[in-house]
Amino acid sequence: MGLHCQDYPQILLVSICIIVAFISKCNADTDPGDVAVLEAFLTNIDNKELLPSWKGNDACGVWKGVICDGKTVKGISLQGMGLSGTLPSNFNQLGSLTTISLQKNNLYGSLPSLRGLSKLQVAYLNDNQFDGIPSDFFMNLTNLVGIYLNNNPLNKTTGWTLPDDLLGSPQLTNLSLYNTSLVGSIPSFLGKLGSLQVLSLPYNSLEGPLPSSLNSTSLQVLIANSQQGQSQLGGTLDVLGSISTLTQVWLHSNNFSGEIPDGLSKASGLRELLLNSNQLTGTVPQSVASLQSLANFSVDNNLFDGPIPKVGDGVQFTYGGNYFCSSKPGENCSAEVSVLLAFLRGVGYPAAIVKSWSGNDPCNRWAGVSCIGDNQVSVVNLAKRNLIGYIDPAIGNLSALTTLKLNDNGLIGTIPTSLAGLKALKVVDVSNNNLNGPVPTLSGVQVITEGNVNINNVAPSYPPGSNSSSGSSDSPPGSGAAPNGKSSGGKKSNSAVIIGIVVGCVVFIVLFLIVFAYKRKKPKFVRLPTELQAPRHVTINGAGSGEAGSSLVGSHGNMVYPLWVLKKATDDFNPTNLLGKGGFGSVYEGKLEDGSKVAVKRMDPELVSGKGLQEFQAEISMLGKVRHKNLVALLGYCTESNERLLVYEYMHQGTLSEHLFYWEEKGLKPLDWNARLYIALDVAHGMQYLHNLAYKIIIHRDLKPSNILLDDNVRAKVSDFGLAKLAPEDKASLETRLAGTFGYLAPEYAATGRVNTKSDVYSFGVVLMELITGQKVLDEKRSEDKIHLVPWFRHVSREQEQFRTAIDPILLATDENIKSISAVAELAWHSTQREPNARPDMGHAVAVLGSLVKQWKPSTVETDDDDIFPSGMTPEQARWKIFDDLSLSMAADRSDVGTSQGTFHEGPGSVSAR
Ligand SMILES: *[C@@H]1O[C@H](CO)[C@@H](O)[C@H](O)[C@H]1NC(C)=O
Ligand SMILES: *[C@@H]1O[C@H](CO)[C@@H](O)[C@H](O)[C@H]1NC(C)=O
Ligand SMILES: *[C@@H]1O[C@H](CO)[C@@H](O)[C@H](O)[C@H]1NC(C)=O
Repeated sequence: MGLHCQDYPQILLVSICIIVAFISKCNADTDPGDVAVLEAFLTNIDNKELLPSWKGNDACGVWKGVICDGKTVKGISLQGMGLSGTLPSNFNQLGSLTTISLQKNNLYGSLPSLRGLSKLQVAYLNDNQFDGIPSDFFMNLTNLVGIYLNNNPLNKTTGWTLPDDLLGSPQLTNLSLYNTSLVGSIPSFLGKLGSLQVLSLPYNSLEGPLPSSLNSTSLQVLIANSQQGQSQLGGTLDVLGSISTLTQVWLHSNNFSGEIPDGLSKASGLRELLLNSNQLTGTVPQSVASLQSLANFSVDNNLFDGPIPKVGDGVQFTYGGNYFCSSKPGENCSAEVSVLLAFLRGVGYPAAIVKSWSGNDPCNRWAGVSCIGDNQVSVVNLAKRNLIGYIDPAIGNLSALTTLKLNDNGLIGTIPTSLAGLKALKVVDVSNNNLNGPVPTLSGVQVITEGNVNINNVAPSYPPGSNSSSGSSDSPPGSGAAPNGKSSGGKKSNSAVIIGIVVGCVVFIVLFLIVFAYKRKKPKFVRLPTELQAPRHVTINGAGSGEAGSSLVGSHGNMVYPLWVLKKATDDFNPTNLLGKGGFGSVYEGKLEDGSKVAVKRMDPELVSGKGLQEFQAEISMLGKVRHKNLVALLGYCTESNERLLVYEYMHQGTLSEHLFYWEEKGLKPLDWNARLYIALDVAHGMQYLHNLAYKIIIHRDLKPSNILLDDNVRAKVSDFGLAKLAPEDKASLETRLAGTFGYLAPEYAATGRVNTKSDVYSFGVVLMELITGQKVLDEKRSEDKIHLVPWFRHVSREQEQFRTAIDPILLATDENIKSISAVAELAWHSTQREPNARPDMGHAVAVLGSLVKQWKPSTVETDDDDIFPSGMTPEQARWKIFDDLSLSMAADRSDVGTSQGTFHEGPGSVSAR
């Protein structure tokens, strides 16, 4: 320090240096590369007079704020010096830098890239006037531990987003970016930074949710309050419930909704929890308020209700501006208020109702609530209130209730059986919602359920075995179980059995009915496990919640699923739930709160952007009404915040494509010929139905094995029908899609883009060829003449001997089934003729395949519905009959009933193949 070597004559300098080098580390020559960068630095500083010592070559010896290790610069320490100027773009050539301390100056211009500073551990660049950040700023900072860019107007006009280059900094502990013009959402890759402890992002223009990936971090400090943009941070706080390391959480002045997660009480070191000025709802959990570590807790200016929790002595607790039932911490709500609030929770705490339902007296002008006698609630009328969610069974505790009107909302789930306990109940109106499952028996009550597509119907594909509770013995194998454990399929068969007994066996009927009645009654009092009763949180409220809410429940209200429900079901579209990607988007497995599984298709934005919201909803609403045993049911949709999500019934065995082409990799059993024949018939049935709908013919346009799904009985359903219409018609997107499904498309479709039902027949023919050969329509790995399956197959199928070589070896082409295979090959050949009019229609395919299925006695016993066939019908007839009864009676052509007799419709212009 202070040894100014260059002030001495050369010789003296050398001798002194030799003498003191060991002690003082005086180096006459700092790495010239480093010096060059520092000189460039100095050049760009406006007030150079603040760095008088920056002279000569010996940067490591005498330059103020330059810290070296030997001859290389490893640190710059010039904080708070009032330096004004820019940083040179070659700054990252100081390759050995470990620390940068340039905070609290007046540096401006763009930040230089730090790319490749692999030794850099800490960079303080905060509190300057930097107004730009290069896109590769964070690249290859392999040893970065902390970075501080706070209070710089980085890209102020356009904003900037964090690049995932930060994943290259696995030791990053402290990321401080407050007031740096960040835009977009908090990136979910931050969850992969396992060492992250401090994430500080307040005063930016961030929007969107807290990424659920943060649950895998050991975050201690999460500061993201006061976002400045139009839409602030929002969504729920759920992820906080799984970060037990938190000590300081500042999320105030945002747009968060939902409840404070109970799990936050596991954060035993939590000191500061500032959640004021959001849209949070529900009860403030006492478990969190009781945390020993808590010192500051603010929940003021939200939509909380219920009791005010008690906090420990000395905790600074602010709670004003809410809708609590009492005015002092620790006071309980009245019994009826508790029930009504439990109900409100189920329907997502709509803001308007929360605001009306404050205080501890529900008879004091609460919206939709009327009372009788000594202040008992007798009427709950919340029709057309945009309620989205479940009917909480707690409603059954309102003992004086006479009228419950919840019609024209977006309710999902089942009608709670707890209503059966209400003696005074007269009217329950739940019409025009999206409820499912059985209607509980309520004697003497007028129950109005119309306009609920799935009510009293077999609930869509629940996991097998989930109906193992009461009543499972009388449901047919493979039938769905309703969420509350009752099976409506079972009910139907019970009725049939009862009628039989009445007619045939009077002696046993009394006894049987007693048993039966007991069985049916019992589930009435079965309460759902608490975690299934109601969603933990709330509709996506938010800045525009009013408008968003009202558009949710309109004329298509009974098919709407709230976004939060689908996000929760899919764990925020967690890639681990991805079932597959198709031409229209990605499909995720989802588990709803009532335990049922659904498939959620997230449409690619560019594929649906061309369609207006109205048009999209109308189209989806139409598709939702198309129900058939061989079509994957579209249960609903969601169009919130630019998402286009479709909710389908869940098919447990995945796609035909997996079973046909990838069974070895997937560890599946190969499909035998019998199974393939049934699949072909199922697909033909589904397609025939689409082509013959009375009110609207639906052309699939994209039939292929990855759009054919299998259930647990290896029976097939066609999916994705009608979606092609949602895509914009412009050429580019058509071409993209053509590329995806090339090979399945009829020549006229590929050439002109024009389709009719015969284009689907062509695709069906291709699928038949794949079923026979086990080969994909296109496979570059096959020899030249066989790359395209269709021409090759059409060629060899004309030659008996050659044809045998084309059959999937797995099928062990015995003479027994070769006939059946040949017949299907014949159908495939006809279906893929060049001239559309020369192809048969789906009705013909159904007839051909139906007769083959009949000839073929299944080699394995089907675990199907064989034991519930009404008498006088063949199993085949009965199968279709029963399923058609269950499917909705739309004004549709039912030509597929009784196809085993060979009746089918010839479509206009169709030509019989034989
Ligand atoms: C944000 O940073 C700017 C400088 O870029 C400063 O003037 C302003 O006061 C800061 N705002 C907050 C809230 O800290
Ligand atoms: C926390 O509470 C203390 C008083 O208990 C108060 O002085 C301090 O300002 C509070 N901190 C915050 C961040 O509100
Ligand atoms: C409703 O009544 C049941 C049984 O009496 C009770 O366990 C439950 O806590 C009550 N629910 C509410 C919200 O009061």
